[in-house]
Amino acid sequence: MQVLIIGSGGREHALAWKIAQSPLVDQVLAAPGSPGLDLIGPCFDVAVDDIDGLEQLCLQIEPDLVVVGPEVPLALGLGDRLRARGFDVFGPDRKPAQLEASKAFAKALMTRLCVPTARYGAFTEVAPALAFLDTLSPPYVLKADGLAAGKGVIIAATRAEADAEVADLLSGRFGAASSTLVIEEFMDGEEVSLFALTDGDNFLTLPAVQDHKRVGEGDTGPNTGGMGAYGPASILTPALRAEAERTIIAPILEGLQAAGTPFRGALFAGLMITPDGPKVVEFNCRFGDPEAQVLMRLIRADIVPILLACATGGLKTADFASLLDPADCEGAAVAVVMAARGYPGTPERGSPIRGMGKADHLPGVQVFHAGTTVGQDGEVLSAGGRVLSVTATGATLRQAVDAAYAGVDALDAPGLFCRRDIGWRALGEA
Ligand code: AMP
Ligand code: GLY
Repeated sequence: MQVLIIGSGGREHALAWKIAQSPLVDQVLAAPGSPGLDLIGPCFDVAVDDIDGLEQLCLQIEPDLVVVGPEVPLALGLGDRLRARGFDVFGPDRKPAQLEASKAFAKALMTRLCVPTARYGAFTEVAPALAFLDTLSPPYVLKADGLAAGKGVIIAATRAEADAEVADLLSGRFGAASSTLVIEEFMDGEEVSLFALTDGDNFLTLPAVQDHKRVGEGDTGPNTGGMGAYGPASILTPALRAEAERTIIAPILEGLQAAGTPFRGALFAGLMITPDGPKVVEFNCRFGDPEAQVLMRLIRADIVPILLACATGGLKTADFASLLDPADCEGAAVAVVMAARGYPGTPERGSPIRGMGKADHLPGVQVFHAGTTVGQDGEVLSAGGRVLSVTATGATLRQAVDAAYAGVDALDAPGLFCRRDIGWRALGEA
């Protein structure tokens, strides 16, 4: 098989690395790719939002399977386009991708299907938004409806701050993405990322992963795309997983199926584990980044048959039980994100990264590229906010964490920083 990966981040490098190990796969191609993906197979310079260009590329190279990494092409309808051309695609069509692309759509669907989530209102005018705030107590959660690259959620500690944010968001801080505003109740608890792989009809869930979204140690400072993750996250006990599958995943997939818009791909449920059980913080229509890096290191089984079954239909979940069987997974896997100074604001670019080979040779360590480029003299340079994902596996979480930081310490990358406390909640409990 020839598998085409769409994207260029750490998630896509990890997916390609894993897919390339499958005996079913001859070649892994990528668009637009990265210096990391380039080590695995040919890359084609087509941007993720150029869905005409991606369609043309597929017609040219005729991949046997297309795996779409990021949400943007899915929200633009790449899935529909490629399926109409007869390609097998892992990733939903435009309509079910609205689960991520419109928070108001996701909240309305959850409400209709009685899926547990925070109470909310959706607004296009300031006055009714302020009236809804009157019914809540602080902190206040405000969300731009549309895609805002992970920056569209504001947690306002005071009413004055919330009022100011309402006005600012509705007057177009994120352009069309915030012309509708979702306001919701604050949920207290620990977060976990649960992924369901589905052909629209059947699904199975993967080991739970915990992301660290805040830039600072101890989960402080502004939100980012994710500074590190680990799995399996024991906070999602087997009983809580079963509850989340029954009350959240199954009804959403059935609801979309019944509407004639089945979800085919990875349904990413961001869950809050509350005293009343798991509740949905958000849905995404794709693998998480850096959650995918953790999952691709954690799972030992070949994932290509399942990606293909999700794309083509007829997923038999019993065939893939080993994905969740601890005996068939590594004990633990960790991803530590190395970000460029300045992230999540304006990252400094062009700083040299050395020692990747040295890090990769350490036991259990694998470094994935996320935002890198190759300079004129062949040196790897930083070229984005999140630059590398240093991953490691180990028999225990402690061992995996120690190995990942040994990988970090083997790098010579003065322009990058990372959090030193990835996995701290679970390690504290251990
Ligand atoms: P989202 O992009 O919707 O996942 O939101 C980003 C982050 O904001 C989440 O990972 C949570 O940490 C936080 N968040 C979002 N909604 C809520 C909520 N209703 N209650 C508490 N925290 C929230
Ligand atoms: N790590 C969270 C996300 O991929 O959205």
